[in-house]
Amino acid sequence: MNNAFDAWQISHQDRINNFLKKKLDKKNSKNTINDAANYALLNGGKRFRALLVYAIGEINATNQNILDFIAASIEIIHAYSLTHDDLPDMDDDSLRRGLPSCHIKFGASQAILAGDGLQSLAFEFLVSPDFIIDDTKKINLISHLSKAIGINGMVFGQSLDMECSNKELDIKLLEKIQKKKTGELIHASCMMSYSISNFFDPSVEDCISKLAYLLGQLYQITDDILDGTSTSKDLGKTSGKDQKDNKATYVSIMGITKSIKIKENFYVEIKNLVKQIPGNTQTLNDLIDKIYARDY
Ligand code: IPE
Ligand code: IPE
Ligand code: MG
Ligand code: MG
Ligand code: MG
Repeated sequence: MNNAFDAWQISHQDRINNFLKKKLDKKNSKNTINDAANYALLNGGKRFRALLVYAIGEINATNQNILDFIAASIEIIHAYSLTHDDLPDMDDDSLRRGLPSCHIKFGASQAILAGDGLQSLAFEFLVSPDFIIDDTKKINLISHLSKAIGINGMVFGQSLDMECSNKELDIKLLEKIQKKKTGELIHASCMMSYSISNFFDPSVEDCISKLAYLLGQLYQITDDILDGTSTSKDLGKTSGKDQKDNKATYVSIMGITKSIKIKENFYVEIKNLVKQIPGNTQTLNDLIDKIYARDY
């Protein structure tokens, strides 16, 4: 138990949730697609990607009012990706964040459209006139996010993941899938936040980049392990789904004991990289510990 960090985590989860709610309240009209998009975005979630944006920002005390827009854009993309991931033609999962998945509640067509709408909403946030940063930095952020989630990024990973269901994979291909489907957005959370840092340093950027990809690996291997070891009630999504669907995961290829060992190795590598970053890395360190120990 780390009381100072727990307080930070709760206050920043509240911060991003309130920011998203306030902005969406201004935009929303009352109709099915708005309800479906709000449902996917605002009903829970651990907000770890937003927390990463704030924690990386703390390294050089970046203004949090600016970070809000980056954190929001990332969480909106994440919500879109989960909405589509759960669809009948994708993972076909009926439970998300402890509630019926978006397509169970609103039907598949509205869930597809909610995902589409959320994807464009993320970019609306980044081009918003209230997001006051230098135009060149803004364009870089938009460029970074669009590449990270596109057909050479997250969507590529999802495509490979679908293609490889029911197939025997080697570990190299699994790593590639996970780097793309999960790693790219986690990497973007860190890199976008650092890109607007007051004391930007290319060698530190390089170190954060390595750390961010490893964090993506740590995140997804934990997701794979929890799928086999936790309950639907605790996870808020259907447990045991990967095995049932014959998904290639660390657990299916390496077994649970070896997967736990690999997870520990990722953690040690990440912690060593954090030591190389100058500035205030206390929160980042604590957040990594939290991500490592997460049980849902
Ligand atoms: C689930 O992400 C999908 C993965 C990439 C592992 P999270 O476990 O962060 O989901 P939420 O946002 O907390 O619901
Ligand atoms: C989801 O990975 C990755 C993306 C949504 C891009 P999973 O399919 O493992 O995520 P869960 O287990 O459904 O949350
Ligand atoms: Mg999936
Ligand atoms: Mg899934
Ligand atoms: Mg999973």
